[in-house]
Amino acid sequence: MATAKAHTNIALVKYWGKKDQELIIPQTDSLSLTLDEFYTTTTVDFDQELASDQVMINGQQLGGPAARKVTRLLDIVRQRSDLTARARVDSHNHVPTAAGLASSASAFAALAGAASQAAGLQLDRRGLSRLARRGSGSATRSVYGGLVEWQAGNDDQTSYAVPIMEEVDFGIEMIAILIDTRQKKISSRFGMQQSVATSPYYRLWPEVVAHDMVAVKKAIAARDVDQIGAIAEENALRMHALTLSAAPGFTYFDSDTLKAMAIVRELRANGINCYFTMDAGPNVKVIYDRVNREAVYSSLADQLGADRLVVAKPGPGIKIWND
Ligand code: ADP
Ligand code: DP6
Ligand code: CO
Repeated sequence: MATAKAHTNIALVKYWGKKDQELIIPQTDSLSLTLDEFYTTTTVDFDQELASDQVMINGQQLGGPAARKVTRLLDIVRQRSDLTARARVDSHNHVPTAAGLASSASAFAALAGAASQAAGLQLDRRGLSRLARRGSGSATRSVYGGLVEWQAGNDDQTSYAVPIMEEVDFGIEMIAILIDTRQKKISSRFGMQQSVATSPYYRLWPEVVAHDMVAVKKAIAARDVDQIGAIAEENALRMHALTLSAAPGFTYFDSDTLKAMAIVRELRANGINCYFTMDAGPNVKVIYDRVNREAVYSSLADQLGADRLVVAKPGPGIKIWND
């Protein structure tokens, strides 16, 4: 029996599309910031007595496709460790589930960590990153803290994350604006598949990302939060253009998403530098340097309500222990 705690991450240069659905090999590299405030804790216990895997999230029994995704990851672990026992999985999300706040990232990193440890597999962090990837692409990056790059690679061996700066030594932070924390209607998995298959703009996306990856790494090396934020904001808008331009078109934005984006632009026009990014959900994350925290926070709180804001700083990599 083992437990792992993994934090979520928010991409500054997004992963949006797979080359291989089965192995979860992405079309492009991506780069993210792991956050301290949002995480998943998962305990895995293999037990000969069980007839099937039992999966609980936040005290609720999981069934259907969500439970099957967990079993698929456990099957990989069982195969590698010659185990046949089914598992009891008890997971707690300290992040809204399936709302565009990257619950699948922390969830599958934690599951990979706990399951491999409970099965006695001795995986190094690269091995863990590759295993987490099989559950959800964004989970590849949640093995590491701080700023993390997922190198797309082209097969199971070569697609994994590498830490860019685990201990972030400059002032980048994010405020998550919780606009709607209910479960999204279109999963990230389905949404990106639709974009790849039907958006006429998708063929430009790999070029956009290749350019942004070079630029964002340069900006990180220079510890230039404004440059990082500007690249992230533009990259996010271009990702969301791939949903609007799919057939049928769709969007993860709602009216308050647009409102939050307008507030960020207005703050910037008034000399308070901050930038937005959105994932597959309506919730907005605002990127800024900690010297601007009070100004950004108070303005967002005035216009949207302090109860909807979470201040997040760079978070740590995965922790795993035996119970
Ligand atoms: P998000 O934006 O939250 O990452 P996704 O659509 O990518 O949304 O993934 C949400 C899915 O991830 C859930 O529907 C569920 O299948 C899976 N998931 C989330 N949390 C957990 C957990 N703690 N354990 C197992 N699976 C989870
Ligand atoms: C917009 O990793 O949730 O958050 O691999 O199908 O599980 P699957 O999708 P997921 O997609 C994340 C998309 C994103 C961008 C990102 O995190 O890079
Ligand atoms: Co996800």
